[in-house]
Amino acid sequence: MTATGKDAPLVRLEGVGKDYGNIIALRDVSLEVAAGEVTCVLGDNGAGKSTLIKIIAGLHRHDSGTFEVGGEPVSFASPRAALDLGIATVYQDLAVVPLMPVWRNFFLGSEKRRGLGRLDVDFMRRTTKRQLDEMGIDLRDVDQPIGTLSGGERQCVAIARAVYFGARVLVLDEPTAALGVKQAGVVLRYIVQARERGLGVVFITHNPHHAYPIGDRFLILKRGRSIAYRPKAEISQDELTALMAGGAELEELAHELERLAGGPPAPGSGAESGAAAAAQELGAEARRLGVTPD
Ligand SMILES: Nc1ncnc2c1ncn2[C@@H]1O[C@H](COP(=O)(O)OP(=O)(O)O)[C@@H](O)[C@H]1O
Ligand SMILES: [Mg+2]
Repeated sequence: MTATGKDAPLVRLEGVGKDYGNIIALRDVSLEVAAGEVTCVLGDNGAGKSTLIKIIAGLHRHDSGTFEVGGEPVSFASPRAALDLGIATVYQDLAVVPLMPVWRNFFLGSEKRRGLGRLDVDFMRRTTKRQLDEMGIDLRDVDQPIGTLSGGERQCVAIARAVYFGARVLVLDEPTAALGVKQAGVVLRYIVQARERGLGVVFITHNPHHAYPIGDRFLILKRGRSIAYRPKAEISQDELTALMAGGAELEELAHELERLAGGPPAPGSGAESGAAAAAQELGAEARRLGVTPD
């Protein structure tokens, strides 16, 4: 697989690892982000989700494995370097200026000016309004302070901004975590819009109910390792939920019980009682859930 240029995935990680001192934050993680697809990264606290996206976003460098953008190996020195290759990251705690108007925040750091001097306020107002409209967000007034918007709307403005400024890959760190059901729905719809525009989206969440309806591929991390990486056709909502809810622990428990029982039961050994039977059952359950031990 050495596709380059147009055929290469937007982003490809192969066997990527990262340590913080003696803490293993990420080990041997592989992932591909294609245009027009949503890749969901799921996992509990401490699973390594933020570490993974910080590598993609250019905040941290990976220590091992390969990280390619458009088929070319990269190791970003800064978020600016990632952005230059079209990778835009929206963090949960958005860097907005609450008292400034929506349009001002939309163009923050990339203000449009008439010639050398005055801000082209008209252009920025119109553009902000149009960009939000096009993606289905109808703000009454782009002059209102962004601090008056709901959390979901603020996430949407940040996404619209990344799209407008030419992102090809959109990385979203838990954009729905702090939101109620309705607001989360708004953001999820917005993510679908970005996908339909051909962006590759990396959507980090710990909620399988948010991930499953909009995801094309699913990467599930646990303590820094990948416990499953599947296209949607190969995983059901139930399986995803079960994996998140500790399917892997079930597998570990099965092994533990097997050890206690002195190995897998021999046929006719009376394994129907006690730990060995429980181990068999748990092993079967873990296999049913598609958990592959590493
Ligand atoms: N800057 C850091 N220094 C030391 N350890 C860190 C740092 N950032 C994360 N970790 C550790 O790395 C592991 C993965 O963390 P993180 O990527 O933040 O997980 P998640 O986002 O899935 O909650 C955790 O054990 C965490 O404590
Ligand atoms: Mg995190």
